[in-house]
Amino acid sequence: MYSDLHHSDPVLAALLVNSLREEEGRLNLIASENYASQAVLAAQGCPLSSKYAEGYPGRRYYNGCAAIDEIEALARTRARELFGAEHANVQPHSGTQANMAAYYALVDPGATILGMDLRQGGHLSHGHPANFSGRTYKIVSYGLDRETERIDYDAVQKLAEEHRPALVVAGASSYPRAIDFGRFAEIAKSVGAFFLADIAHVAGLVAARLHPDPTPVADVVTFTTHKTMRGPRGAVVLSRTMHAKGVDRAVFPGVQGGPMLHEIAAKAVCFHEASQETFRLYQRSVVANAAALADSLAAEGFRLVTGGTDNHLLLIDLSKSDVALTGKQAATLLEEAGIVCNKNVIPFDTRPPDVTSGIRLGTPAATARGFGSEEMRAVGRAIAGILRAPDDEDVKKRVRQQVHDWCAAFPLGVERRPTAPSSRKVFQA
Ligand SMILES: Cc1ncc(COP(=O)(O)O)c(C=O)c1O
Repeated sequence: MYSDLHHSDPVLAALLVNSLREEEGRLNLIASENYASQAVLAAQGCPLSSKYAEGYPGRRYYNGCAAIDEIEALARTRARELFGAEHANVQPHSGTQANMAAYYALVDPGATILGMDLRQGGHLSHGHPANFSGRTYKIVSYGLDRETERIDYDAVQKLAEEHRPALVVAGASSYPRAIDFGRFAEIAKSVGAFFLADIAHVAGLVAARLHPDPTPVADVVTFTTHKTMRGPRGAVVLSRTMHAKGVDRAVFPGVQGGPMLHEIAAKAVCFHEASQETFRLYQRSVVANAAALADSLAAEGFRLVTGGTDNHLLLIDLSKSDVALTGKQAATLLEEAGIVCNKNVIPFDTRPPDVTSGIRLGTPAATARGFGSEEMRAVGRAIAGILRAPDDEDVKKRVRQQVHDWCAAFPLGVERRPTAPSSRKVFQA
């Protein structure tokens, strides 16, 4: 692999090989990451990356786009069919740019947007003051019920009535429960607002009908293709026909220049893969694995935000578990043992975001490697062992060895046919 690169740039080639070895030898539990298939990677690495094609199929500002038009048209058709959407724009380079384009398409600068608070599970692009969203719009944030740690829909309704937003945004980065998009749509409608569902995290589950689908009830849906979708880095905006022109204009020339054709080709591959039964089985395993990890950690005495998970991720509340660690300390200790995750604020956290009282764990990447529920339960026990004995080098060494054995048993880059997970009820559309 990379033989040309070894020849032309040995320094970078060595760094790349190192980083791949590092990834190969660790257990990735970062909820927003995944491993794309070899077919997706092949499309991403193709020479289309150099082609300029500002505009859309049939309406380009550059010549020589006939074959490229077919690729983008195919990606759009597959995205529409996968989610049952009326229109798809497959050009956004990232989830944040997809959201930016969606806002531009739906509301004017200065408009009021009602979105989920980052500290309660939302995303930067849903109105954080340091983000374009918080700087361009008047943001009203909603959050969770203190008791249940679930979205307080009645409170969202009240905020909507009080502030009369032009746009309501639903979707989250660290919310372990299913989101009731139907309720959000009703709230938006009741105050005459547009409704945007950002399913960056759960898109793969939605495509597999394992999470409620916002497409029939939202004006616009955005999602990233590199998280649960297992595709290339990038994003998509789905919309109703009435918003199609506005969305297309907002993506280009609104917030982007030339599209990344290699990523669009890889998105087409991703949507094809996501339409297969194997993808649905993979997503069922992702959800079952998250449930197994949650059960195992709860049995070890850790408190999970909301008590568990409906989707691909979970949050450990370290402040109410029997360990004296911050999220930052816990994530560092786990990394030393070969388990990679991220520190994360928990609802109503009193610690700052660079310290936190929680860690977020997700199963998409480990499941793509082939980990099953039995392994995930053992992973839960290993995490508990590390966090309970932070100074015990023997425990760390044992877990490192176990991670090494798992990684050898489930190498990266091997396409597996997932089998249906046996246990656990999951949401069925
Ligand atoms: C809910 C949500 N929306 C948008 C994004 C932004 O995606 P990107 O990092 O590609 O800009 C994320 C990323 O984590 C996310 O979780």
